Amino acid sequence: MQSQKPNQSQPKKLLTRRSFFKTAGMAGAAFAGGLTAKHALAGKILESQILEKQCAFTELPNEFIYLNSGTEGSMPDCVLSDLQNNLLKWAGNPTYSYELDPELGKRQELNRAKVAKFLGVRLNNICLTDNTTMGLSMTLMGLNFGPNDKVVTTNHEHPALISPLQIWQARQGLQIKIQSFPPTEKLSQMNATELLDTLFPNTPALRGAKALCVSHVYPTTGVRLPLQALRKKAEELNIPYLIVDGAQALGMIDLTSPEDNLENCDFYAGPGHKWLNGPPSTGVLYIRNAEIRPPEFYPTISQRMVRYTDCMEGDPACFPMAKALQVRGCSNAPGFAAMVRAIEFVEDKGGTAQIEKYILNLSREVKKFILSRAPHCIISPHSDTALLSGLTAFFPFKWDKPQTPLTDKKTAVWVVDELLKKNIQIRPIGIPNANASEQSSEKPYALRISTGYFNTAAEVETFKNALQEVLERIS
Ligand SMILES: Cc1ncc(COP(=O)(O)O)c(C=O)c1O
Repeated sequence: MQSQKPNQSQPKKLLTRRSFFKTAGMAGAAFAGGLTAKHALAGKILESQILEKQCAFTELPNEFIYLNSGTEGSMPDCVLSDLQNNLLKWAGNPTYSYELDPELGKRQELNRAKVAKFLGVRLNNICLTDNTTMGLSMTLMGLNFGPNDKVVTTNHEHPALISPLQIWQARQGLQIKIQSFPPTEKLSQMNATELLDTLFPNTPALRGAKALCVSHVYPTTGVRLPLQALRKKAEELNIPYLIVDGAQALGMIDLTSPEDNLENCDFYAGPGHKWLNGPPSTGVLYIRNAEIRPPEFYPTISQRMVRYTDCMEGDPACFPMAKALQVRGCSNAPGFAAMVRAIEFVEDKGGTAQIEKYILNLSREVKKFILSRAPHCIISPHSDTALLSGLTAFFPFKWDKPQTPLTDKKTAVWVVDELLKKNIQIRPIGIPNANASEQSSEKPYALRISTGYFNTAAEVETFKNALQEVLERIS
């Protein structure tokens, strides 16, 4: 796969081209004695149409190696220009945009349908959200947990998943069974079956829980839990709902493959703004049962409860849940339409299966490098491809003492800062201890590398050399 980055000379040219439009616009204004808003708009749209054609990640400077898609992705030009055009369109005709425009209107049928097609599901399985947090909150606060219910989750979940569960715990006494991941030395060598059996053993404590709440890819360790195997686990444990945090998977993992098919989940929430390289404040919530309705599930963060109180079951006046969740005041519709442009970009590049392959190949290079020097320091699993992702986590180490992982936060932060001085962005990440409270300041810290679609093999090489140089300087 070709690098998505332009060659060295392109940003300059781009700058010149942009300056040209700016200057041309100003000269035109002077000549015409002042442009009307519509003419100015046409100029901006023309500029963005030209940018759209090239659709590379030109806003990421060439000399900046950005290895942190796990925190935020970037946006290719076509997404940026689409977003800009959408905003201009909105500003030019706000009421029509909000009420009726097929792309920007509050109902979002068109964009939902496109996202559904991309994910191999149906329109009424999809609601567009602001982010993963919102999708998880809609899901977990929408479900009707009772005081005798329990849910099963792990000690590596993001607060976006844990917080709504804690609200249920505080209000209704929901029991939260937190299963601990194995220690990092063990984890890195495991295969998917061993890991799932260790995490979710068939015991009375877990059997019959109402929901299994997990991440598809863990932001801490980069572990991917394959969705098909998770569904089998849920069935084995007689757990009806599989609820998945897809923050680190949407745009990285092919959600139409048999092993990781979205339809294995009852609810799946993910972002548009990380691996998919869509705009900030965009996300997707998948709801398997399009017919779900109160009292099984309430439409929270929605204006449409009335559609369930005023209608009989089977009545067309009863909204599908995803449709009810979509209308919630004024949303980021310009962003949703631009997220769909990011999806089209993925499709133009051969689809998510191709993108997943590319991302995993880059991540394998990082893993191999750490394994070859410091096998005791790697955290991410590396032998079973089913557990692989584009995230690689490892503890820092002194280059001449690779057998000793350095697990303190200060060292991890120092390495990240030193790499940033070399224009390489990675991030430090806390690894929860088994049985320790989430807030524990004692938890070990690692380094996390995200190899995104816009990264190249050459960038990974530069990163490896820079990392060695920094690790050699640890005193
Ligand atoms: C596993 C996980 N869940 C949720 C989130 C929150 O994502 P968002 O900003 O899309 O709400 C993150 C962010 O890093 C994450 O890693």
